[in-house]
Amino acid sequence: SIKIVTIGGGSSYTPELMEGFIKRYKELPISEIWLVDIEDGKEKLEIVGELAQRMWDATPYPVKVITTLNRREALKDADFVTTQFRVGLLDARIKDERIPLLHGMLGQETNGAGGMFKAFRTIPVMKEIVEDMKELCPEAWLINFTNPSGIITEAVIKHFGWKKCIGLCNVPVISMMNEPKVIGKQTSELNYQFAGLNHFHWHRVFDEEGREVTGQLIDHINEKSGGTPANIYQAEFSLELLHSTNLLPCGYHRYYYLEKEMLEHSLEEFRQGGTRAEQMKAVEASLFEIYKNPDLNKKPEELQKRGGAYYSEAACECINAIYNNKGIHMVVSTQNNGALTCLEPDSVVEVSCLISAKGATPMAWGDMGSFEKGQLQIMKAMEECTISAALSGDYGMALQAFTINPLIQKGGEAKQVLNELLVAHEKYLPQF
Ligand code: NAD
Ligand code: G6P
Ligand code: MN
Repeated sequence: SIKIVTIGGGSSYTPELMEGFIKRYKELPISEIWLVDIEDGKEKLEIVGELAQRMWDATPYPVKVITTLNRREALKDADFVTTQFRVGLLDARIKDERIPLLHGMLGQETNGAGGMFKAFRTIPVMKEIVEDMKELCPEAWLINFTNPSGIITEAVIKHFGWKKCIGLCNVPVISMMNEPKVIGKQTSELNYQFAGLNHFHWHRVFDEEGREVTGQLIDHINEKSGGTPANIYQAEFSLELLHSTNLLPCGYHRYYYLEKEMLEHSLEEFRQGGTRAEQMKAVEASLFEIYKNPDLNKKPEELQKRGGAYYSEAACECINAIYNNKGIHMVVSTQNNGALTCLEPDSVVEVSCLISAKGATPMAWGDMGSFEKGQLQIMKAMEECTISAALSGDYGMALQAFTINPLIQKGGEAKQVLNELLVAHEKYLPQF
């Protein structure tokens, strides 16, 4: 029997996770799911915990959902720990998005200044979680979903020394799920090769005869196929650029390839209905009203409005593949080990992997062209500076991270944004 512990259990995504485990119960005989949260999330935890238990009670499976604010009690003898917490909740994300935008810079959950501050807040908490795990469940797998997922996973593996950690994201899942339709194919008829970093990866696609169909898919990339998560505005990619790279970018590449259009759209959204975080706060509130209904015993449709839809396809399938030693293809964040020649072997990358009882084995991609190689090396350096600043609280290192981040305008105003974010998040930044 399997014990699962989910940290940040009060998240509105928890029913999604339950659905994924219910679907896989016959292969993945779970006995207990512990949902852990903190005082600030207590109300959410109770509501979603009760819904989670009702979801299981509507099945023949005897799974117990336990909610707690005591992380250490929950972690004892865990087999799989999943992390989906947000330090400071959505109010902190509102600040991550608003403050840079007020200075005319991109404000986004995982990119630019906001994404770096999410890492600054998360890394100290993650360090404590790993310390607890070393003591209480030294054999457990840590399946990280907390953003910025790639950066947090690198901190866990490289800096806290927890090798049994895999970082996840739903972006590759939804692109593999929806893209094939535009060329009249099914996911199972195509083969995928992904490589890059979390929210910064590319992919190539081949049909059953091994013929490359990347170019055909590029031709359809600006159609609303559902292959991009709901949170990303679909500014039009340049087909000339994409054909010339012969790679399908991920949705988040728009912030880099189409920086001006994306910034303009974010500013427009900000002026009209508030930032994405503010809109999601309203969606979250209505979701919890729905969750409270004592007759509800399945995941409601409304959850699909969140950008993390299908997250459980990644999380539950990954746990299933480890537990049952499946050797299936999944795109996850793990140490490079030579898959990408342009990055260090110990850097965490998001690439096509085989997932088995040993964890993730990255598949070789090889060399990137100069265009991608240059961007990857800058983004990885930005991630390293971000982790270093998050660990040390060193102001100069935070400035290095800000200066190298392509979405932050260099100069005095960058420093001002940094200072304002440091003050705004002071409560969650003990290291600075
Ligand atoms: P949220 O704001 O609802 O936060 C989730 C829960 O974490 C809250 O109930 C909160 O109280 C709790 N929490 C905060 N600090 C905690 C701590 N120290 N210990 C335990 N719990 C704590 O967040 P959300 O919008 O549901 O998103 C959850 C997380 O998942 C975020 O980090 C988000 O970025 C991430 N996410 C990742 C992906 C992906 O593709 N990897 C997709 C969607 C969401
Ligand atoms: C995507 C990303 C996640 C991100 C989410 C935001 O799915 O992969 O990493 O957290 O969208 O969605 P939201 O609905 O919170 O804006
Ligand atoms: Mn993601």
